[in-house]
Amino acid sequence: MSEKNVIPKNETVLSVSDLVVRFEGGGRQSKKKIVRAVDGVSFEIVRGEILALVGESGCGKSTIAMAVMRLLKPTSGQIISGGVNLATIHGRALQRARQRIQMIFQDPFGSLDPRQTVMEAVSEPLLIHKVGDSAGERKEMVFEALRMAQLNPPERLSENFPHELSGGQRQRVAIASAMILSPELVVADEPVSMLDVSARAGILRLMMDLRDRLGVSYLFITHDLATAWVVADRIAVVYLGRIVETGPSEVLVKNPAHPYTQALLNASQDGDATISAAAMVLKGEAPSAAAVPTGCRFHPRCPKYVELGKPESCRSEDPRLRVIKKGEITRRDHSAACHFTDEVK
Ligand SMILES: Nc1ncnc2c1ncn2[C@@H]1O[C@H](COP(=O)(O)OP(=O)(O)O)[C@@H](O)[C@H]1O
Ligand code: SF4
Ligand SMILES: [Mg+2]
Repeated sequence: MSEKNVIPKNETVLSVSDLVVRFEGGGRQSKKKIVRAVDGVSFEIVRGEILALVGESGCGKSTIAMAVMRLLKPTSGQIISGGVNLATIHGRALQRARQRIQMIFQDPFGSLDPRQTVMEAVSEPLLIHKVGDSAGERKEMVFEALRMAQLNPPERLSENFPHELSGGQRQRVAIASAMILSPELVVADEPVSMLDVSARAGILRLMMDLRDRLGVSYLFITHDLATAWVVADRIAVVYLGRIVETGPSEVLVKNPAHPYTQALLNASQDGDATISAAAMVLKGEAPSAAAVPTGCRFHPRCPKYVELGKPESCRSEDPRLRVIKKGEITRRDHSAACHFTDEVK
């Protein structure tokens, strides 16, 4: 794990365009429902950048993560990283690409094998990717990774089993094992949502610190807009498989343009920063990716739609993401997918 001299280079580490992931849902053969889990998503991440995907449960966040990790094969779209399209490669090319992109999962209890020591867990990526010339060298690399994840003293901690560690320590082990191959990008799927509140801030700080020191980029997934704001440079708000608003974190949180983002924000300012609270603020049925509404997919729950007297365009025309305020560079544009964005400023 080498400390790179971090100079922001604007070098794109991940570029996703028009990503679509569909699942065949339950039901009899003749009535099989198509679940449109990810329905045309595009974004990019540059070196050292943290992009947060925010949205309520079921909106497709984990499916995007799984596609980027190529733990599932997307229905269509491109996932470009390191000059290859991850959506279509396989075999050794995919294996090589996987060395550059690592994942941290939500559940620090489920993601570690209870029979493996910390040493075994963290050295596993080295063995899989044949890194390190000897057992001794690999051991040193594990110690260094544990130190980097602030698991001290590493010599003692490396002998522990998962059940001997706290939730926060386990997530640090997961981070050490994700970082040991010096990845360019780490996909973190709700990395703190199962931890005690007391452990959360430390894990977030560690992840941000590693970004500063190593120049690693994150695709940071959360259902919590407040967490996204703390951690991310840019935020993309996801609703039913689509990005409905995106922009620099401070712009999006201070001046949300999409009625869905506004509702999320109101919910978090009510004292409860979770999106499940927003679901109560937002009237109407919980969305289903198996029955995406016509026109604007948010219209059945949109307060603005009602306020405006239920305009026909909301029911018939699917709003595309469009720039509402130019950023200093294209990537930092503030964009929203609402026909009436100007009015909802
Ligand atoms: N393997 C699968 N088969 C069928 N439907 C799935 C599968 N995985 C996810 N889904 C559905 O896709 C949608 C998005 O799920 P997911 O990506 O897990 O959302 P999130 O992570 O935002 O909670 C949901 O409607 C979910 O039920
Ligand atoms: S397009 Fe209409 S329904 Fe959709 S977010 Fe805008 S106002 Fe609401
Ligand atoms: Mg998920």
